Amino acid sequence: MSTDATETTDAETAAETETETDATADSEVATDAKPEAPSPGEQRRQAKQERAADREAAADREAEDIAASADNTVHLRVFRYDPDVEGKTEPYFDDFHVPFTKGMTVLDALIWARDNYDPSLTFRHSCRQAICGSDALFVNGRQRLACKTQISDMSEPVMVEPLPHSEVEKDLVVDMEHFYDQMEAVEPYFQTNELPEDELEEQRQSRENRETIKMSTRCIWCSACMSSCNIAAGNNEYLGPAALNKAYRFAMDEREGEDMKQHRLEIIEEENGVWRCQTQFSCTEVCPKDIPLTEHIQALKREAVKHNLKFW
Ligand code: SF4
Ligand code: FES
Repeated sequence: MSTDATETTDAETAAETETETDATADSEVATDAKPEAPSPGEQRRQAKQERAADREAAADREAEDIAASADNTVHLRVFRYDPDVEGKTEPYFDDFHVPFTKGMTVLDALIWARDNYDPSLTFRHSCRQAICGSDALFVNGRQRLACKTQISDMSEPVMVEPLPHSEVEKDLVVDMEHFYDQMEAVEPYFQTNELPEDELEEQRQSRENRETIKMSTRCIWCSACMSSCNIAAGNNEYLGPAALNKAYRFAMDEREGEDMKQHRLEIIEEENGVWRCQTQFSCTEVCPKDIPLTEHIQALKREAVKHNLKFW
């Protein structure tokens, strides 16, 4: 029994040695084979990549020198993600130390980080005056306009993330398509069947009526309210606070006339309309234009009830 076992072991050892020898021979053959020289195109690509990496490293060193020589710096932690670049397809955070200047906003700090550390850092912005609505972000756990948020009001590190409940396209940029679809669903433009008889006659609005809709006209389509809304997060079909505010803006405008008002109330009374709002006020709290969204939604509910009573 023990001899058999020894024989088996010897045989296995011989087989292993043979296999190892084969592998060594194979690897020698592989070592002997000359690697294929990269094509001229590939060489140019590699050289270009190396030059770009050198430039990036030099920019990083320069930015770090500037930050080190600054009296005061601010620490940003920025969400990064790029589905098209190897190594960035899983979300992660990048740290940037940016020289602080008086009056600096979160947007200013991001622009400095992009221009001095990493040109691939991606975010939307345009007016820098809280008008275009393109730079709503999730800063230190709350929806805010980056251009309206003072760095001096934030605790550090300043966490900068894309708007929650939206699909991230790249870094801080989210897909706004669904938000725009919800806005379009309430027909966000003036319509009326009650024009003055004389085409040159002005269509006047009373001062009181202007006051009623004044705040609702301030919306800049930033989507901060939609991103903060728990109901919208759980129900993709819900029109959401911004669209309902837009519906309020036109439904309450006396110049559109009674027929149009009925049409607008029918839109917001649909299954995923005004009755889905659970009056949580999160939208009102984050709106950068201070629009009393919850109040407007409540007013629409009252109008809807009156409308229904009329047709019973
Ligand atoms: S209602 Fe306010 S938070 Fe919502 S999209 Fe308009 S401006 Fe932005
Ligand atoms: S950049 Fe236009 S609202 Fe901030």
